[in-house]
Amino acid sequence: MELKIALLPGDGIGPEIVGEAVRVLDAVAARYGHTFTYEKALVGACAIDAVGDPYPAETHAVCCKSDAVLFGAIGDPKYDNDPNAKVRPEQGLLRMRKSLGLFANLRPLAVFDALADRSPLKTEIVKGADFLCVRELTGGMYFGRPQGRSEDGNTAYDTCVYTREEVERILHLAFKQAQARRKHLTVVDKANVIATSRLWRQIAKEMAPQYPDVELEFMFVDNAAMQIIQRPTHFDVIVTENLFGDILTDEASVISGSLGMLPSASVGAEVALFEPIHGSYPQAAGKNIANPMATILSAAMLLEHVGLRTEGKAVRDAVSKAIAEGIVTEDLANQGEKSYSTTQVGEFIAGAIE
Ligand code: IPM
Ligand code: MG
Repeated sequence: MELKIALLPGDGIGPEIVGEAVRVLDAVAARYGHTFTYEKALVGACAIDAVGDPYPAETHAVCCKSDAVLFGAIGDPKYDNDPNAKVRPEQGLLRMRKSLGLFANLRPLAVFDALADRSPLKTEIVKGADFLCVRELTGGMYFGRPQGRSEDGNTAYDTCVYTREEVERILHLAFKQAQARRKHLTVVDKANVIATSRLWRQIAKEMAPQYPDVELEFMFVDNAAMQIIQRPTHFDVIVTENLFGDILTDEASVISGSLGMLPSASVGAEVALFEPIHGSYPQAAGKNIANPMATILSAAMLLEHVGLRTEGKAVRDAVSKAIAEGIVTEDLANQGEKSYSTTQVGEFIAGAIE
């Protein structure tokens, strides 16, 4: 198969971890006889520095003509603590999601048995946890207008908006994901307080008869935050709005023991985008210490998305092998045990595929 992949390494550790994912993709291409070509483009703080725009038109054009996008991370501390900054790297990410029509973010969470004791939660609680968060990605408070400040600067406002169409398309996707898994769907909302949540709940109930094989449950977001920690094995597919999904997926990531393990896929219109769920980890940038596994697993999701299931599985197996043999970066190494660099981990995984 010929695949054109847009590479958006972004900021911080982005270039290093995307570099390792490419090494692994190249190993897959060599082993299975595919041709993957890459085109790099700027996004985030590095794009602001270079051309004054966190998501330049050229980057959008590169994404549109590609079969898939592999994205690293964005964010730079020099923008985080400046509430007056006019352009922010995050605006690039939001514009990219919106303009590529990526309305659904799929964040699978599974515990690697060999890492169960790395979780801050008790092993008996996390063992066997395996669920998928479906986060709505282009609506809600992130995009609702008006948003801003009063003239005197002392009042600020955001708007949370959802239309029936937006809710239906994400719920259809979540119901289908549940059908392909263990047929259990949890709609997370705050229907006891906010109107958009009541719309979500109403629409989910209306749609349920179309998916009679899926068991549907509703959970308030505050309770869900607790249940995810208390009994993560309860969940199969969780679907929720943009802001709740942002928060719950960071929370859920601790179950696996390291934020550095979790991949994600953003899908919707034509082109899909794959990225680790962690951020740009600026303190580690350029040190060759960041964990590349989440990005490599995102590349596995990319392969599976285009139908290369065997290849995706080969990547997953190679990652599991690295974990089992202790070829891991410092975030996963046991106390007192040797840890490996970003490139060493990438080379091992690529080698395991060849
Ligand atoms: C994420 C991130 C982004 C978000 C930030 C960087 C804008 O936290 O992908 O979860 O809030 O969506
Ligand atoms: Mg987040």
